[in-house]
Amino acid sequence: MRLDKYLSEMNAASRSVLKQMIRKGLVQVNGVPAKKPETKVTPGVDEIVAEGIQIPYYEKEYLMLHKPAGVVTATRDNREKTVMDLLPPIRRGDLSPVGRLDKDTEGLLLITNDGALSHRLLSPKKHVDKTYYAEIDGRVTEETVLHFQQGVDIGDETPTAPAKLEILESDARSRIRITITEGRYHQIKRMFEAEGMKVVYLKRLSMGTLVLDEELPLGECRHLTEEEISQITGVQGG
Ligand code: URA
Repeated sequence: MRLDKYLSEMNAASRSVLKQMIRKGLVQVNGVPAKKPETKVTPGVDEIVAEGIQIPYYEKEYLMLHKPAGVVTATRDNREKTVMDLLPPIRRGDLSPVGRLDKDTEGLLLITNDGALSHRLLSPKKHVDKTYYAEIDGRVTEETVLHFQQGVDIGDETPTAPAKLEILESDARSRIRITITEGRYHQIKRMFEAEGMKVVYLKRLSMGTLVLDEELPLGECRHLTEEEISQITGVQGG
């Protein structure tokens, strides 16, 4: 692969700026300044350092973000801060979030350029479990557990698929855990609204096999481990 392509895919700078940097000798390949943008490098083998910063290469990159409230799930937005603004600057330029969390929802968000995985995780036919913790303004009872088990009319063409609701604390403000297999717009909020209650806090805990790392501070991200990647992609590593 050409050196300028390698760096551009990893979002190091624009292609024209990169070419200048390389010509100025600011990019080293295995410790030696490379002078030509077309220098051939082998991702994963050659060590690339641009202006003193080591730039690893990922063909497929998988990041777990602990999304905070107040940022929108989008690749770009003219007015609002997006989840992409929370990622490190050196990372692939073609990443996007898998599915959407509302602006006020926190928790697990997978961000990747693996389009096939994204498609699989979001396909309604695949019924991938998504588990959330929520706090509800209202007393959640076994009646709601039953309704959610049966599917709820939230004003769409069809009722929701069965969802598993666990009551952690039933009070004027209740605490619950819920697992859904779809990803309809504002789904959990609308399910509780259909029961006459309001979600006041929502956090995604898991998606398929991927579980939010509770050690990961709010607003930060990390790469998935090899094990997490092989579990979520269903491909066993070597
Ligand atoms: N359901 C919602 O209502 N909001 C989310 O962000 C995710 C699921």
